[in-house]
Amino acid sequence: MVNKICCIGAGYVGGPTMAVIAQKCPDIKVTVVDINEQRIAAWNDEDVTKIPVYEPGLDAVVAEARGRNLFFSTEVDKAIDEADMIFISVNTPTKTYGVGKGMAADLKYIELCARQIARVATSDKIVVEKSTLPVRTASALKDILDNTGNGVKFDILSNPEFLAEGTAVEDLHSPDRVLIGGDESTEEGAAALKALVDVYAHWVPRECILTTNVWSSELSKLTANAVLAQRVSSINSLSELCEVTEADVNEVARAIGMDSRIGSKFLKASVGFGGSCFQKDILNLVYIAKSYGLNEVADYWEQVIIMNDHQKGRFARNIISTLYNTVSGKKIAFLGWAFKKDTNDTRESAAIYVADILLSEQAKVSVYDPKVEEYQVYSDVDYLGTRSSEENTENLTVFNDPYEACKGAHAIAVLTEWDEFKSYDWQKIYDGMLKPAFVFDGRRLLDEKQLKSIGFQYQTIGR
Ligand code: UDX
Ligand code: UDX
Ligand code: ADP
Repeated sequence: MVNKICCIGAGYVGGPTMAVIAQKCPDIKVTVVDINEQRIAAWNDEDVTKIPVYEPGLDAVVAEARGRNLFFSTEVDKAIDEADMIFISVNTPTKTYGVGKGMAADLKYIELCARQIARVATSDKIVVEKSTLPVRTASALKDILDNTGNGVKFDILSNPEFLAEGTAVEDLHSPDRVLIGGDESTEEGAAALKALVDVYAHWVPRECILTTNVWSSELSKLTANAVLAQRVSSINSLSELCEVTEADVNEVARAIGMDSRIGSKFLKASVGFGGSCFQKDILNLVYIAKSYGLNEVADYWEQVIIMNDHQKGRFARNIISTLYNTVSGKKIAFLGWAFKKDTNDTRESAAIYVADILLSEQAKVSVYDPKVEEYQVYSDVDYLGTRSSEENTENLTVFNDPYEACKGAHAIAVLTEWDEFKSYDWQKIYDGMLKPAFVFDGRRLLDEKQLKSIGFQYQTIGR
């Protein structure tokens, strides 16, 4: 029986997941810890709308459980020592240095966690990998824990998270499945598995809780993301073909999606997928395949990324060529910066790469996003290191008002599919723009007929 859970990492995965576990398991004390003091302070903000992760419905879940059996703290050691079960939910970004640079997952944060747990723990613990990890990380974790600990026992489980941002609470409340990898061949291993199954069984039907061996569980997480991303790249590759033939990618997607073997989801053509997972996990898969000498497997999956980079690039290049082959000094307004709607997360967002290309062509980029803060936009382009941060500040402007962002622009580019963009006063936007006024809809979001009747030159993906 688990009485106390500790989760290391209060980010996009750890925060919402633990909030829902606490909500659904009032008998378990859940403490989420992070070394980032600001982040913890934000999770503890009296005004629950100020929590650091924007997810529809999350504020209500936090309001219900916080202070009852859900706690956010920077006292990492204390929470580790108290807990029977420890989730590791820290970031595993793509390595930016050394061997595997740009491909492999950087496991330094995970290893630091393992060492910290080993140092602090004075009683047996179940350690759960929540972060997405390369296959066989669990064995590295076990090595560290078993060799530096205080003689206490550690059981390691893999429990990858499949929630999607923007629908995290819904996905956590009714997941398609919960996946738990463990070692059923030993008594302790089986008991650890059962303990975690029992946590989820508070609200998830048993038949939706899958148990596998640890390696299958780790690999399934990478595979799920790779296959989803592959569907997006597949439809995006066809969007380019549609643009030169007279086919319409939405019609094609609809037609193929009705085949129950294919299914209709994840076939929406776009300016390219983003998010913290897809690219990172595929690169990771590619790296692992290569490290085993499986070059064909690696090349196969790498193509998904190549296609995605191409899609982002060609969206930007189309803006340039349509605007008479020069955007130098022209104001281009971005509607949306987040990698998808209903989130303030911008990691790997297509908007960043499109902006980077336009800035290199000396465009003046203005940005409006309903949830992304100004500092984030600057930090995203600065991070690319293409030009100095002074140049970025000079040529990129973030607005709090969409009409201001679009005023005086030569073109508007829709980068995120926020619902509110559809209901804007498009006549008013048109009146404030230079003519011809262009709209490049990277999400097939807006009403083409309406925009054209106002006078816009409208272009979208896949038609
Ligand atoms: C296919 C399409 O399914 C059908 O819609 C189209 O009209 C014609 O092409 P078919 O070639 O008759 O039909 O058989 P299908 O069941 O699609 O199998 C094609 C091949 O894929 C077979 O060799 C089959 O063994 C193989 N296959 C299929 C797998 O190896 N694994 C699978 O999961 C499915
Ligand atoms: C993804 C997986 O869906 C989730 O299961 C996993 O736990 C984490 O990674 P997330 O990155 O939050 O979730 O969002 P997702 O909805 O998968 O979208 C990823 C990207 O693909 C977004 O940029 C989205 O706009 C894009 N996308 C998605 C498309 O362009 N077309 C689609 O049809 C679907
Ligand atoms: P994810 O999307 O995987 O949740 P995030 O970057 O949003 O990733 O969150 C990961 C969190 O983990 C960050 O808030 C970071 O400060 C925290 N973190 C990283 N390493 C440690 C550590 N050793 N101890 C505590 N927290 C950590």
